[in-house]
Amino acid sequence: MKKGSVLTLDIEKFADRGKSLTRMDGYVVFVAGAVPGDKVTARVFRKRKKFAEAALLEVLEPSPLRTDHKCLYFGTCGGCKWQHVRYDAQLEAKTQSVKEAFEHHGGFESVLVKPTLAADDIYYYRNKMEFSFSANRWLTPEEIASKKEFDTSFALGLHVPGNFAKVVDLTECHLQSELSSRLVNAVREFVLEREWTPWNTRRHTGYLRHLVIRQAALTDEFMVNLVTSHFDPEKMTLFEAFLKADFPEVSTLVNTINSTVAQTAFGEESHVIYGSGVVHDRIGDNTFEIASNAFFQTNTKQAETLYRVAAEFAELQPDDLLYDLYSGAGTISLYMAPKVKHVVGVELIEEAVQNARQNAKANGIDNVTFVTGDMMRLFNESFIAQYGRPDVLLVDPPRAGLHPKVVKQIELLAPDRFVYVSCNPMTQAHDLAMLADIYEVEYIQPVDLFPHTHHIESVAKLRKK
Ligand SMILES: C[S@@+](CC[C@H](N)C(=O)[O-])C[C@H]1O[C@@H](n2cnc3c(N)ncnc32)[C@H](O)[C@@H]1O
Repeated sequence: MKKGSVLTLDIEKFADRGKSLTRMDGYVVFVAGAVPGDKVTARVFRKRKKFAEAALLEVLEPSPLRTDHKCLYFGTCGGCKWQHVRYDAQLEAKTQSVKEAFEHHGGFESVLVKPTLAADDIYYYRNKMEFSFSANRWLTPEEIASKKEFDTSFALGLHVPGNFAKVVDLTECHLQSELSSRLVNAVREFVLEREWTPWNTRRHTGYLRHLVIRQAALTDEFMVNLVTSHFDPEKMTLFEAFLKADFPEVSTLVNTINSTVAQTAFGEESHVIYGSGVVHDRIGDNTFEIASNAFFQTNTKQAETLYRVAAEFAELQPDDLLYDLYSGAGTISLYMAPKVKHVVGVELIEEAVQNARQNAKANGIDNVTFVTGDMMRLFNESFIAQYGRPDVLLVDPPRAGLHPKVVKQIELLAPDRFVYVSCNPMTQAHDLAMLADIYEVEYIQPVDLFPHTHHIESVAKLRKK
């Protein structure tokens, strides 16, 4: 097999990051976009000692796991890599990937992984979308094949995977609501008519940078945050009048300024142009006030499912002291607080901790303490002396998992009840293998927060040996 050679392959199974694979005499070939059960042709573009990667050319015989994809931009935009896979097969693939992560990265041979909990809404589930303006439009293969003339000096949409400079101009996106797509299209028309310039990542010029839409799932509040390179009050007056006339559903407009070269929607200042500058959404019995730059779970309804599972696994008691480590904006702490005596949350990002404290106050919850700091440095005996010995421990670390020092401290602390929530089962398995002398993995419940993507949340219930 050489780079460039075309292979005919029977695809065996899903692999990491939404790809699929097949084996040829033990040699693994990954093909993005292929589905287990497909017979395909694919061209090898990368060759390594133990594996190769090939680009899908043609599906000769489609797998029964395939379904029609919904979106015009499927295959180019990186948002939903699995729209062409039946939802039941996506769930099965996620369950399987958690099992394999525990086998391969933790050496757990027979851990019980329950079937992945499905999302009720498999489209339109995100409460936040961050669209980008760009002076560098990326054309889809269909757009190129159409032989039409396109102005590639403007785009409003999502980045091509792995390429922050290029943006696919999207006229539809099924991750947020139909209203959100309609708004994106109207904003495009509005700014093109007025010749407002998009950001140019190479020259660092242009006015328009991002269009961030926050649409609450459980209230009807709707925020538009136009991120621009500078504040232009005249332009904002025009934009305000346009939204008020054509989109009465928009309850607040914010203008965030980002004059730096960093391609982020976080900026140095935010102007509230009209409305309250926040949206409110609910998880469980709590209402959260979400500002333009606040941290909040992007799938409101499934976040509640995740927290319900975590609460059940924690077997909370009214007298419990609960530690919620890596607490973000405190949504888990606040969900659990009414069920226990006290919660201590620890989080690195100061703004998230401030959000957590405000949210506690707004919901009349006073049995939580949020501490800002790096778990690696903070989580030691003197912390425990100060805040008390927890009865139950809940961790929800970032993808990299727990720092070895944190693992060591958990080993020393060894509370009876321990729940590990993770967005990366590989590091979760690795960390739990380190704790295998003390904790047995009773079972694992994967929860699907992000349909049509390979992302998975996995909740492990640990039993002290
Ligand atoms: C997966 S999120 C947890 C989100 C939160 N539990 C929720 O449900 O919204 C991980 C959090 O850990 C925080 N974090 C990352 N590294 C950290 C560290 N070294 N110490 C403390 N917190 C950290 C991140 O800022 C992030 O908010």
